[in-house]
Amino acid sequence: MPLLAFTALLLAASQTTALNNGVGRTPAMGWNSWNRFGCNITEEIIKEHADDLVTSGLAKLGYVYVNIDDCWQLTRDENGYIHEDPVAFPSGIAALSDYVHSKGLKFGLYSSAGTKTCAGRPGGLRFEKQDAESYANWKIDYFKYDNCNSEGLGDKPGTIRRYGALRDALNATGRPINYALCSWGDNNVWEFGADLGNSWRTTGDISDSWSSVFDIISKNLNLAKYAAPGGFNDMDMLEVGNGHMSDIEYRTHFSVWAALKSPLLLGHDITKMTQATMEIIGNKDVIAINQDPLGKSAFLRAVLENVFVWVGELTKGERVLLVVNTADHEISVDILMRAFTISDKDAISSFKWKVKAKDLWTKKSVGVFKGKLRLDAIPPHGVRMLKLARKDGDFPSLENPPAFYDTPIKIVGESLSILWLLSAILVVVAVGAALVHLEYKRRQQYQPLP
Ligand SMILES: *[C@@H]1O[C@H](CO)[C@@H](O)[C@H](O)[C@H]1NC(C)=O
Ligand SMILES: *[C@@H]1O[C@H](CO)[C@@H](O)[C@H](O)[C@H]1NC(C)=O
Repeated sequence: MPLLAFTALLLAASQTTALNNGVGRTPAMGWNSWNRFGCNITEEIIKEHADDLVTSGLAKLGYVYVNIDDCWQLTRDENGYIHEDPVAFPSGIAALSDYVHSKGLKFGLYSSAGTKTCAGRPGGLRFEKQDAESYANWKIDYFKYDNCNSEGLGDKPGTIRRYGALRDALNATGRPINYALCSWGDNNVWEFGADLGNSWRTTGDISDSWSSVFDIISKNLNLAKYAAPGGFNDMDMLEVGNGHMSDIEYRTHFSVWAALKSPLLLGHDITKMTQATMEIIGNKDVIAINQDPLGKSAFLRAVLENVFVWVGELTKGERVLLVVNTADHEISVDILMRAFTISDKDAISSFKWKVKAKDLWTKKSVGVFKGKLRLDAIPPHGVRMLKLARKDGDFPSLENPPAFYDTPIKIVGESLSILWLLSAILVVVAVGAALVHLEYKRRQQYQPLP
């Protein structure tokens, strides 16, 4: 019987249909307690954040999930039901959920698909039925399922079993719950995640540093094709506003997460937010890219030196262009229009296209371009993000784009440095020739007499 159930799970997992729970058609947006508060959470902190999501205007921009991460739970009773920490959550999770809902927001919880959570609280493994029942009774809308203490079930079949068991238990409650897998990218979870959940973490945990953001970006370079309405690559919760990156780096972090259709779950203290943070996470145009109903991730179109170029399809035939400078110096680039096609035929005609561009960070129209787009002075670790529309027709479709096709980008100033290099080589050759000539002369002078 267990073998039969297991085979059934495997069969279900091998079907191509995505999780059909009706939610997560665009990436989830909201706030999560972990990055800023870790285990130090109380119902007061959660309520304040619910309040401030509304008063700050963030809820109106789409940040509606209020998700409690690890450490809300403390014990399991003799019937296997989970209970909250009575000191941190004296009014109970059900009351907190009601409070969050009363603000017009949605409520999320956390556990681990193991015997214990990552912080050592009771985990969900083998209690899926009781947990799903509690979660539905508490009217949760989002559930993050971590990967700690998986008891030897960390391989692919074990992962499908653990995460599939809760998926089925949640489904059986009849409540649509956005189900977020947090299995850290293990076993290439993107290849089977869509059968299990509405999103799947593609890497280990983020930290508030540029090196962490860069590392996560470099592990998500080829995952665009796995993102679709109902199932997205999750690059982890945001660090914008936590204080250890520059605003330029936070803007890049936010832009890439948005264009690659990662959930946008804020991870800072909203009650003490600066205006600069609000300007980043509150950028309507960038949010609109993330929430575009087409649900297609931008894909990596080119890499040249330290410059990464992503291109993505949007509804209404528009395109998003995202250019990240990972170098420690400023760079200017030309993006050739053939960056927006993957066929040779269109590449030739692309030089005649008239393309209208809007810069999503300056929020200004930057004109109509032909042949190429010049992006000047992208700062170190900075980004340029544009929305493009053709004035003279439609962009060709980017269906099933290959990871690389050509390099439709030129670093501006490069040709100058090549000239310098050539001159340097000429000088070296000239000096060398002169030395050889002198040596020849010297040897002639001291030719021994016959
Ligand atoms: C449960 O799964 C079925 C089959 O995929 C689906 O049609 C239904 O919408 C799901 N219900 C919920 C609440 O997830
Ligand atoms: C939680 O509180 C402990 C003890 O005060 C502290 O050491 C830890 O850094 C705090 N964690 C976070 C994420 O704030």
